[in-house]
Amino acid sequence: MYFKAWLDYDGELNESMKKYFSTVLSNYGSNVLSKVERQMYLHAVEEVKTAAKAFIGNKPDEYDFMISDGNLTVIKEQYDEKEDGEWEKGILLYYVPENQMDEEALITEGAYAIKRYYDEEKRLDLWTVRANSGAGILYGTFALIRQAVCEGKIADTGIVAPFHALRMLNHWDNMDGTIERGYSGNSFFFSKNQILITERTTFYARLIASVGINGVVINNVNVKDMATRLISPVYYAKLRELSKIFAGYGIKIFLSLNFAAPMELGGLSECDPLSEDVIRWWKEKMQEVYQEIPDFGGFLVKADSEGRPGPFTYGRTHAEGANMLAKEIAPYGGLIIWRCFVYNCRQDWRDKKTDRARAGYDNFMPLDGKFLDNVILQIKNGPMDFQVREPVSPLFGGLMKTNQMLEVQIAQEYTGQQRHVCYLVPMWKEVLDFHTYCKENEDTVADIISGRTFPIRNCGIAGVSNTGDDSNWTGHDLAAANLYGFGRLSFDNHLTAEEIAKEWISMTFPKKPIILSNLMYILMNSWRAYESYTSPLGIGWMVNPSYHYGPNVDGYEYDRWGTYHRADCKGIGVERSSKGTGYTLQYQKKNALMYEDVSTCPDELLLFFHRVLYTDRLKSGKTLIQHIYDSHFEGVEEVKEFIRLFCQLEEYLEEAVFQRILNRLTEQLSSAEEWRDVVNTYFHRISGIEDEKARIIY
Ligand code: GCU
Repeated sequence: MYFKAWLDYDGELNESMKKYFSTVLSNYGSNVLSKVERQMYLHAVEEVKTAAKAFIGNKPDEYDFMISDGNLTVIKEQYDEKEDGEWEKGILLYYVPENQMDEEALITEGAYAIKRYYDEEKRLDLWTVRANSGAGILYGTFALIRQAVCEGKIADTGIVAPFHALRMLNHWDNMDGTIERGYSGNSFFFSKNQILITERTTFYARLIASVGINGVVINNVNVKDMATRLISPVYYAKLRELSKIFAGYGIKIFLSLNFAAPMELGGLSECDPLSEDVIRWWKEKMQEVYQEIPDFGGFLVKADSEGRPGPFTYGRTHAEGANMLAKEIAPYGGLIIWRCFVYNCRQDWRDKKTDRARAGYDNFMPLDGKFLDNVILQIKNGPMDFQVREPVSPLFGGLMKTNQMLEVQIAQEYTGQQRHVCYLVPMWKEVLDFHTYCKENEDTVADIISGRTFPIRNCGIAGVSNTGDDSNWTGHDLAAANLYGFGRLSFDNHLTAEEIAKEWISMTFPKKPIILSNLMYILMNSWRAYESYTSPLGIGWMVNPSYHYGPNVDGYEYDRWGTYHRADCKGIGVERSSKGTGYTLQYQKKNALMYEDVSTCPDELLLFFHRVLYTDRLKSGKTLIQHIYDSHFEGVEEVKEFIRLFCQLEEYLEEAVFQRILNRLTEQLSSAEEWRDVVNTYFHRISGIEDEKARIIY
């Protein structure tokens, strides 16, 4: 059993609105559509029927229509046999044929417009979804239903085109059914080295299409053992079936690839990207893959990182590695998405110039402009690894001649592992809105990865998925807001974090003002709260090694020397200015200057960029040590407030849902208290400075 998540369509429509859902009109019959376009269109029609069932309790009547010379003709006589004076209302899904396209923007794949059609003479009053692609019809239909559920009414949208070309989910699912950093049960893609195709598969495709996702990588970036064999005959039939299901929802399937596959799968003695044997092996492999899975999207590659093989072994660059694959996949229209998460995890941190934060830029900046056009560099939002607070990676705004994609983590690896509530959309908004100053205007991360800053076409956004086979998909019911939010933001970058949260709550829970207001408070304050009671001011990593849940002040797993954050009796922080590791210099000048100077560096990133004394004052006027004490106490109080507000919802929520969320919030509170006590005690002991408010610290 699984939840319908936000597709439950529990809307309350007034009688006049309900009438629209009594009829659905479509023109896929009178249009020549490819099989897959038709499939998407049919799914849209199906979606209207599902919504109608929820809103009016019945299936709607269905009619075909044609439009010629601007006139709409409904193909079915009884449609006109309505009682005198009565208006016919309905929802019309209009696939605009190429030669009738009047609006430029509809050309963007997936664009749609919702518009009212009103005909006095024929007494017709319809809400139309217009698009010239199956995906557009589908997205427009989901948008129309969303309006009905959230607002109780439908309104013109004008043309809505997806902001980012690629809107992808990365699953870190292993073939044995486990999920790396998975916090919602096991994989629903794999079990016991087999590919699973169940009722859930189709529902998942529908769920993520409803928020605009158009690409899914189904296996873990760490490709080992049987996963290397995904590109071999044993798995093709299932992959083909899977890709057909997803294609019907406008989603392409991608795989993570093992750079050493020519050795591990092909029996070659090396995987040097310049070796002729290796190149030939890949050429044949790509041909085979596309013969078997014609609508396959391409590959995601983690190379030379955390033990994964890559071109470095052969003294080759990442451009040489990526381009070799890209060249062989190009004839089939495939993409190579190459990750920039490349660093040496065995670095000795005692050397003051050594800095993991520099690694992505140091490795990839010299390669700007050297990648083929079907290669995209996928860059994590920060230079480290999905900490609760990091600056934006300087590769954004650095790279100017390379296709780029932003990678965020929807799974809450370092942000409470879906046991704590932590709504991440506000963090992603900050990243997307960050001005890189690489150009005079249109210089934000969102501008860059949507092709507005530089003329790049292959670009977009990827999120590491937080789903699993738990009945509610995401373990914590409130974590579904992150999955929903990621999709909505990838489609429409102009939405605010508040708007998205509001939508998600309205789509998911009963419509009661108190539910909306209390859950809004919890979601919108949850990232800040988590940040307050965990590691302070951007320092990061004070978390249990490898596991990444719960406090451990010296927990950085790759640090055998216990000096990662460099705390001593006087102060803490890594000096990353030009006086230290020089990391600040990787930014464009304006940002470099801002971060370089303690007085202009934003407080929340202070300890990321600078070594600061406990007695130094922050912009708030507080000393650093007092800020650490206060924020840890405040964070815990905020979680208590979440619980208080949530308990007010008991009578309105399903009992099981209420209990499940309450259990998680209760665990969050005790974990937050532990964080507070461990971190405050550490700083109290190491600094020897008392809390001004004389609270008990241990
Ligand atoms: C983090 C995470 C790993 C993951 C890696 C990656 O380090 O802990 O589990 O493999 O990121 O993004 O490749």
